[in-house]
Amino acid sequence: MKTRILLLALLLALLLALPAQAAEEGARKKVDLPDMMKQHMLSNMRDHLVTLHEIHTLLGRGELDKAGEVAEARLGMSSLVSHNAAHMAPYMPKEMQAAGTEMHHAASRFAITAKEGDLPRALESLSKVTAQCVACHGAFRLN
Ligand code: HEC
Repeated sequence: MKTRILLLALLLALLLALPAQAAEEGARKKVDLPDMMKQHMLSNMRDHLVTLHEIHTLLGRGELDKAGEVAEARLGMSSLVSHNAAHMAPYMPKEMQAAGTEMHHAASRFAITAKEGDLPRALESLSKVTAQCVACHGAFRLN
């Protein structure tokens, strides 16, 4: 008797979970970019991840100044030109542009905070950068 109830509960849970998962995929809005631009954006993205990795490595070594410099040059406002941001922005929905802009601002703020030399505050500031990675990835997809 107990096993049957358990099995029923399991089946119900599975049935409820399936549409929820499908809705999650549908919730990410597909953004259509010309192929070259898509490749360019994904290549920027991979560079963002490498940059985050370098920042974490430097923070772990206590080299906060250097972490700030890397963040400003590769993710901050100084990186907009190298990422062709002005050229890409018109192809993106407004909220996507906003997440991108906020990420660059947050990275520049992190650069300033890091140089002040307080590790917990620097990490807190860095989480404002990653919050934008998370927000944009949760809302948009290219494929
Ligand atoms: C403005 C929106 C936005 C922001 C901000 C953003 N991303 Fe992305 N990223 C995307 C989209 C859209 C994709 C494609 C995802 C898909 O199609 O499933 C992507 C893909 C990626 C990929 C996969 C690249 C590949 O070759 O497939 C990585 C890695 C990545 N992002 C890292 C990051 C990191 C790290 C940050 C923050 C420092 C970040 N992204 C910030 C929108 C964004």
